[in-house]
Amino acid sequence: MGFRAFRVAKGDDGFTRSIIEREESELPAGDLLIEVKYSSLNFKDGLSATGNPGVTRNFPHTPGIDAAGVVLESGHDDFAPGDEVIAIGFDLGMGTSGGFAERIRIPAGWAVKCPAGLSLHASMIIGTAGFTAAECVQKLEQAGMTPASGPVLVTGATGGVGSVAVKLLAQLGYEVTAVSGKAEKTDWLKALGASDVISREAALAGAEKPLLAETWGGVVDTVGGEILFNAVKSLRYGCSLAACGLVAAPTFGASVLPFILRHVNLLGIDSVQLPIDQKAAIWQRLATDWLMDLSDLEEQLTLDSVATAIDRILAGQMVGRGVVHL
Ligand SMILES: NC(=O)c1ccc[n+]([C@@H]2O[C@H](COP(=O)([O-])OP(=O)(O)OC[C@H]3O[C@@H](n4cnc5c(N)ncnc54)[C@H](OP(=O)(O)O)[C@@H]3O)[C@@H](O)[C@H]2O)c1
Repeated sequence: MGFRAFRVAKGDDGFTRSIIEREESELPAGDLLIEVKYSSLNFKDGLSATGNPGVTRNFPHTPGIDAAGVVLESGHDDFAPGDEVIAIGFDLGMGTSGGFAERIRIPAGWAVKCPAGLSLHASMIIGTAGFTAAECVQKLEQAGMTPASGPVLVTGATGGVGSVAVKLLAQLGYEVTAVSGKAEKTDWLKALGASDVISREAALAGAEKPLLAETWGGVVDTVGGEILFNAVKSLRYGCSLAACGLVAAPTFGASVLPFILRHVNLLGIDSVQLPIDQKAAIWQRLATDWLMDLSDLEEQLTLDSVATAIDRILAGQMVGRGVVHL
């Protein structure tokens, strides 16, 4: 059967974006044929659509690292036609035709059943970005963070990961300081639950010093670079930073001093290869004790409008979560 798909093609003048009609028979082999109802736009989709070889090597290609939809055909005992499922990460939208299309076909091991209490739509307002925010908070709490640890810093706060992190942390009773380059979004961030909003420049102050005043009880860092290590230098004794992103830079200058004098931890976060049982457990939390009303984060997108949204996310201009309605 034919279906609509967003496609990126590589030509002599670079990469072009279009909507095409595809056939299910063109999809890769896999256990589950899924009718995609919603996808969401993540920073990595922008990298895929512009030919970043660390994300996608073969073109033409349909990006979309997230998909939520209904199983049409199943070759696996754990799933049956009609099941509502969520798929994020693994190779979806990278080497495998992704969620910016009305159909995907994937291995059963990439999907989780949409937990009761969470709609497919809500799952894609969360998407990889929101899921990663939850993963950061979970790992910080496993490392000992509680609301009594002190204020939590969230960088890249108006972005996908950052905005969900602000909302989740505030809902869990944390005092949140948001770092944002968008001064005009201060009130929006405060409405999400941030107690304070500071500029990127303020987050970089004192970058030349080996240690800074002990301020943060935890950090969710989505940007990397010098902001990341400045935040490490400002952690309170024994506290942790969860590093998940690189929009500012993939590298940073570091010293061992915060680690050996302040006993702090730098925690790595990956949502892509996280084993599916751990993914399912986090989705379960997001449907129960971590359930959030995220409607104020959504920007509705379509297959047609995602083309220009890709440029905005690469320029750091997206606010909240772009949800693709198929
Ligand atoms: N590890 C994982 O599994 C995983 C999963 C999801 C995402 N990520 C990564 O996390 C990062 C954020 O993803 P996202 O989906 O939230 O992207 P996003 O929606 O584009 O948000 C990133 C935000 O970072 C801020 N920013 C942009 N350029 C910056 C710069 N040069 N310096 C400092 N801040 C800057 C902007 O917020 P303000 O204007 O408010 O400052 C921007 O909205 C990306 O690097 C992505 O690849 C990793």
